[in-house]
Amino acid sequence: MSVLTRRHLLHRAALSASAVPAARLSTSAAVTAATAGTAATGCDGESEADDERLPAPESQLGLRFPDNFGWGAATSAYQIEGAAKDDGRGESVWDTFSHTPGRVRGGDTGDIAADHYHRYVEDLDLMKDLGLGSYRFSISWPRIQADGTGAPNQRGLDFYRRLVDGLNERGIAPMATLFHWDLPQSLQDIGGWESRDVAYRFADYAEAVFEALGDRVPVWLTINEPKTVVQNGYLQGHHAPGLQDPGAAYLVAHHLQLAHGLAVRALRATDSTSRIGPALNLHPCYPADDAPGVTEATRLYDGYENRLYLDSIFKGAYPADVLDDLGPDDRMVRGIRDGDLKIISSPVDLLAVQYYTPLYISAAGETVRKWPTSEASWQQIFPDGMYDILTRVTRDYGTVPLTITENGLPTPDVLDADGTVADPARIAFLRDHLAALHRSIADGVPVESYHVWSLMDNFEWNEGYEQRWGLIYIDFPTQRRIPKRSADWYRRVIAANTL
Ligand code: FCB
Repeated sequence: MSVLTRRHLLHRAALSASAVPAARLSTSAAVTAATAGTAATGCDGESEADDERLPAPESQLGLRFPDNFGWGAATSAYQIEGAAKDDGRGESVWDTFSHTPGRVRGGDTGDIAADHYHRYVEDLDLMKDLGLGSYRFSISWPRIQADGTGAPNQRGLDFYRRLVDGLNERGIAPMATLFHWDLPQSLQDIGGWESRDVAYRFADYAEAVFEALGDRVPVWLTINEPKTVVQNGYLQGHHAPGLQDPGAAYLVAHHLQLAHGLAVRALRATDSTSRIGPALNLHPCYPADDAPGVTEATRLYDGYENRLYLDSIFKGAYPADVLDDLGPDDRMVRGIRDGDLKIISSPVDLLAVQYYTPLYISAAGETVRKWPTSEASWQQIFPDGMYDILTRVTRDYGTVPLTITENGLPTPDVLDADGTVADPARIAFLRDHLAALHRSIADGVPVESYHVWSLMDNFEWNEGYEQRWGLIYIDFPTQRRIPKRSADWYRRVIAANTL
């Protein structure tokens, strides 16, 4: 592993250790960039905060989306379901992690979360009321196999069957993710994703789910953001399983991708006509300046952030620069077996892209902040990044259909005395990113749907319930659901199919 990479790992670990709520966001620079349709070059949005020429967040831009465009919202099992011990659910690494003192802000856990497991009918009605055409959720592996192996738990499957039937009855297309980080703890105990065998266990689990629900779910996503498991779970350690082990991290990257490919094959082995693909969080990487060496540093960074997951799936080879950088003794490099890349590159039907933030890289291989951040200190608000990453994917990997399965903003929402929740910054954020998305579609990128992260406020991993990302406010003590202003805005966008 190169000095550059080692430095970048240390830098990231330091960043996570000192993760504090970032400066309050200002979306004004981003608004300007998106509505002008230009690549913005300014770096500090604060000075424009009161610019009267900016359109009000809710004003229409007149951008019409293609007929049949899929308007959606996303969630994941551990973040919303609660019911941690109901109906035979086993423990996941996130139960262990969140119950370990000091791991999650405020000691929060997903034990109850938004209690969606018990309130899913109300939530389905809220989705219908929003006018959603697509709902992306995840299936909890430990609800289906408490220990990650063996016969599936019928009660767990029944919950998802009821959910999926409820969606179909309401004309909302289900989009199910098989793995959104809640690995059964029993599998962690035998090595977790460091163990090659876990990839094969995942394929067995996927097969059981396909058998039970296959005909009712038109789109399957395999693994949510393998990169986040690698970086947050095994490099920085602020996500489950909470390790800081670069050696393990990239072996995990390989096994997660192997699991993806095996699940694709498992679906193909059935007679299902459903589609399947990966869900990748992609980060456009830009040089922070024009210092000597910055181009090379940015390219390598892009390798770790994007090509490590895209080249393997779409080109059947890991990027040579990343493998070189890891070096021949790296556990990942040694762990790749003949035929693995063929499995990983099994043809997919679509690519799910999750976009939140750009990355700016210095010649030293460190990230540099250029834009206002949100309450999530890792997020810089830069809508043009959406355009850049989508056009780049299509340019470099061909015209595989794309869906945006996550994009959103945490805001400090409060329930006002009049019973409403005003979240203009979220509306501005969504509008500007949708404008960038619209522009990419106009330029030929085949994006078929878009899902806001998130449908409702939820358990934001190590941040607990502090960050609110939802269109729907959850009053956690009472579990009352209150659609925010952004939900009303999104309903109007969906109804008009126009931004
Ligand atoms: C993504 C995760 C999702 C949520 C958002 C804010 O990386 O997939 O579960 O935490 O970030």
